[in-house]
Amino acid sequence: MHYGYFDNQNREYVITRPDTPTPWINFLGNGEYGGFISNSAGGMSYYKDPNSKRITRYKYNNLPADRPGRYIYLKDMKTGEYWSPTWQPVMKTPDSYECRHGLGYTAISSSYGGIETQITYFVPVGKDHEVWKVRIKNNSGKELSLKAFTYVEFSYHTASLDLMCDWPRMLFNADFKDGFIVFESMTAEAFYPYIGTNAGVEGYDCSLEKFIGTYRSESNPIALENGKCSNSPVSSDNAVGAMCCPVNLESGEEKTFVVVLGFSENKETAVQKGRENLDEQQIEKDFADLRAYWDNFLSHASFSTPDENVNIMLNIWNQYQCKTTFDWSRFISLYERGIDRGLGFRDSMQDILGVVHAIPDKVKARIKDLLSIQFKKGDAMSVLYPADRKACGGGRSDDHLWSVFSVCTYIRETGDREFLNERVPYYDGGDGTVLEHMENAVKFTVDNSGEHGIPLLLLSDWNDTLASINKKGGSESIFVFFQLAHAVYELLLLYRQYGYIEKEKWASEIYAYCESKLDTIWDGKWFLRAFNSYGEKYGTADDEYNRIFLNPQTWAVMSRLPTEEQAHSALDAVHENLMTEFGLLIHYPAADFYDVEKKAYMPCAAGTKENGGIFYHTNAWAVIAEVLLGRNEHAFEYYSAALPCRRNEISELCRIEPYVYASHIFGKQHPEFGAGTNSWLTGTAAWMFLAASQYILGIRPDYDGLVIDPCIPKEWDGFKAERMFRNVKVIITVKNTCGSAGRVKNLTVDGNVMEDNTIPAAYLKGKTLVQVYAEI
Ligand code: GLC
Repeated sequence: MHYGYFDNQNREYVITRPDTPTPWINFLGNGEYGGFISNSAGGMSYYKDPNSKRITRYKYNNLPADRPGRYIYLKDMKTGEYWSPTWQPVMKTPDSYECRHGLGYTAISSSYGGIETQITYFVPVGKDHEVWKVRIKNNSGKELSLKAFTYVEFSYHTASLDLMCDWPRMLFNADFKDGFIVFESMTAEAFYPYIGTNAGVEGYDCSLEKFIGTYRSESNPIALENGKCSNSPVSSDNAVGAMCCPVNLESGEEKTFVVVLGFSENKETAVQKGRENLDEQQIEKDFADLRAYWDNFLSHASFSTPDENVNIMLNIWNQYQCKTTFDWSRFISLYERGIDRGLGFRDSMQDILGVVHAIPDKVKARIKDLLSIQFKKGDAMSVLYPADRKACGGGRSDDHLWSVFSVCTYIRETGDREFLNERVPYYDGGDGTVLEHMENAVKFTVDNSGEHGIPLLLLSDWNDTLASINKKGGSESIFVFFQLAHAVYELLLLYRQYGYIEKEKWASEIYAYCESKLDTIWDGKWFLRAFNSYGEKYGTADDEYNRIFLNPQTWAVMSRLPTEEQAHSALDAVHENLMTEFGLLIHYPAADFYDVEKKAYMPCAAGTKENGGIFYHTNAWAVIAEVLLGRNEHAFEYYSAALPCRRNEISELCRIEPYVYASHIFGKQHPEFGAGTNSWLTGTAAWMFLAASQYILGIRPDYDGLVIDPCIPKEWDGFKAERMFRNVKVIITVKNTCGSAGRVKNLTVDGNVMEDNTIPAAYLKGKTLVQVYAEI
């Protein structure tokens, strides 16, 4: 069963009924002012940092779910009926309903009793407010006397305190003046949220209690029952932005008004600032600019393959999700609460991979920001908060190593090798070049090995939950071992490229050391996952639980360290033991209990999350590993199984949005196999984009040029792609002439036959467009 469809022309996902299995959300804004919004207008707003600059409240683990949000209520003053044109929170069944989640905006349309409404929500590019454009049309055949009410619930600016403490609401003040409610939490510095409208305000409520009434909810506010607000300011209590505006409509008449929600740094000028944002002409222009912003963003890479599902994801939704993860890391969504996650060193380092082709300057700045929370000795803090630039966490075995691939990917994309020499501060004082930061990361891992000579797992590796096997310390991580080998492999390529002879020797020795450890970590058919605190093997065929883990197999191949036989054996074992109709399990079989003796390490149910769930992030690595071995059918099988749009017709089972990747869906050991959770903010977005565009389609930037190295399904007769590379538009046609889809046999660029499968960067210099034809 489906709840909507893709409108590719308009780059929208159209939800056709409001009661989706979970709220299906969209993000507004571009990493500064923004928020998320569900298909029934639930959601919240914040500026830059959802913990320290929260504007409106959203209540997690709350019933009714998905509240509050950005609400408009309508009341027919003749009949006394009231409803929400966004379905929530009044939840009267609309005669028609449609929610269009577009790129940076959401438009919810419905009709009720012949009254048609459309509310379009968006954040203008580069501005620090949001717009709700409300259009109401009277198709009821009679004259109407309506009242429209706005509603948001303000939050204390520090969201964690708003949630935890009793006192924040006592610092609230809000009042109405000249069409605007301005809110103040007394201890906030230069932060005055406001909401206003040009609809002609007849009355207002700033007091939550006065608007909602006692023992009521957003579903049946007393103000709606009464058909008017009570003109309440608020002082020292919960605050809302409720304004009541009469809307009289002749039969057939249509009216539009706008609501703006934002903040001012200055209380005195808040109303003036808000009023400027009500300019309807400017709003039209801002919306056109938003569309143009996304046209431009997506114009950096587009693909036309024989598989429509691949095209939808690669051209629209996957790229959109990549930008969202770049903006919000794992900070704020329907699942993450915007309180404790910030920009993760590990997560954000990976997120850059999905956007570096489109916004390289922003990527460069982000890499530098993250490197600045690395210590001199090489390890790093885990989280950076973007607003106050504070960091927390640290002590993990993997964080610091992620920078190597990200920096190398940035240089391959841009050719900006000077970046290696830029100086970036260390978190504990002093500074070093970007290259030194990467080398120190490698040194740290080499210097922190355990009894088997494998890197210590420390507080955790990529898999946060594996920490529990390290109860007494001393655990070693084979994932980090391969991550180290991969980082060193990347450094070796970099050194060879730029002629760092001495450094090459240093890296080769580490790589050779890693090679010498392969026997220690090989289990016969696949690689182990770890050694626990007692030196016991994890991820071995000898055990009852957790016999095989996905990550060490894929990262082994990505590190290029194992023998060919080992690599094939490991990936065969993956296919045999871990594949399901929705993708690869993270490990198998998962235990349903936690018992150190039995090596059952996870407290959560078998088949969920990192305990035997289908963790999509890890599936992208499997796609890449399969491509590296030239196994195109498996690569596409994994990629295709994970495609969110394939879930569209079984949404009642999968529950989550079919237009974005989720962090995981429940694996086959769980009774709800196929049910998904934690959509949107996941490393899956960036890695799947990379896996598909650079590995399956094989259009891969390298230091010297753009490599064309597809590994597509054999049934495909080819594909087309357009990509910006070093400021040149590269138009690529790939033809599958052999029907078995091997690697490139002939490559011509503007009709010139190339020596190998690379379009040399030197050839591209000074050009604006090249045409490439490749045969496989
Ligand atoms: C989540 C975290 C990520 C971690 C992964 C596996 O996705 O955001 O940092 O690597 O879980 O535990």
